[in-house]
Amino acid sequence: MEIRPVRWEGDVLVLIDQTQLPHRFVEVRTTDWREVVEAIRHMVVRGAPAIGAAAACGLVLAAEAIETSDMPAFYEQWLKAADAFASTRPTAVNLFWAIERMKRVAQHCNNPEEARRCLREESETILREDVEANRAIGRHGQTLVPDGARILTHCNAGALATVGYGTALGVIRAAVEAGKRVSVYADETRPRLQGMQLTAWELVQEGIPVTVITDNMAGMLMRQGEIDMVVVGADRIAANGDVANKVGTYSVAVLAKHHGIPFYVAAPVSTVDLSVADGSGIPIEERSPEEVTHIAGVRIAPEGVKVINPAFDVTPAELVSAIITEEGIARPPYTDSLAQMVAKRSGEVR
Ligand code: MRU
Repeated sequence: MEIRPVRWEGDVLVLIDQTQLPHRFVEVRTTDWREVVEAIRHMVVRGAPAIGAAAACGLVLAAEAIETSDMPAFYEQWLKAADAFASTRPTAVNLFWAIERMKRVAQHCNNPEEARRCLREESETILREDVEANRAIGRHGQTLVPDGARILTHCNAGALATVGYGTALGVIRAAVEAGKRVSVYADETRPRLQGMQLTAWELVQEGIPVTVITDNMAGMLMRQGEIDMVVVGADRIAANGDVANKVGTYSVAVLAKHHGIPFYVAAPVSTVDLSVADGSGIPIEERSPEEVTHIAGVRIAPEGVKVINPAFDVTPAELVSAIITEEGIARPPYTDSLAQMVAKRSGEVR
């Protein structure tokens, strides 16, 4: 089964409800852009590229819902929808990248009818390009995977986090397709458990050997020589190669450095934000304390306790062995290599 968390079925947007996995496979069908805004906010759809793709499709639905034939009035109303999408989750830059891309399309249209058509086409291009990028990431990344590798990953950077195939899991899938025998350790990824509920689910579907560990076990396994490499995704990569990804990624990177284990980041060029010089400029989403104090709706923390819940952390570039993009593998110094990947992607360098 090919996993497609964001897709069009005619004029209906279909999202896999990731809050229901692994217990139930439920798809949300909608033509209401406001429902897409809420789906992103509440993590029905999550993962940086999937969030961007869902917002692009949501903006098509928003365009469909605006009835005027006057272009300035249309654009003004449509921008309000764009702002609503931009307010959902601050860290994954793919969201803002997708919104900007859709804005550029709308700005070049002469009337709402043309805008509706062109926005729909652009959303389809974004969906298609994301899967192509992930397959290219896989092709490049699998060259770094030795036969027999035991690979640790954190959170879910799989098909579910993208439009299909995945970034970090794309590298693993491509290694398997190349005939390599690999096995995966999936950090469970507190507090939302994307590793246990999503990564493990995806890999089980495909028969790729996976072992779930709690987040605090990685150091022990590394010390025992059980892990050969780490590959994770990213929500935003600064110009200097600092990487924002699911909270806990930084701890894994420090452990990998200490044990001399390569630590790779797999992400499309749309995750690179050259406007941010280093990780200190990346906004980190703070989510509700209930995600930490409760498990499956049951309170596990004492009443009155203070809780913090940053959804992401920043791994400094010096801990990152390489960044795998669809344009190739970026190595330190990242200020040069990432700028080159971005230029290649935008067609400036061939
Ligand atoms: O809070 P989430 O589940 O949206 O966070 C997802 C991650 O941190 C992923 O690792 C990242 O978006 C890369 S997905 C290809």
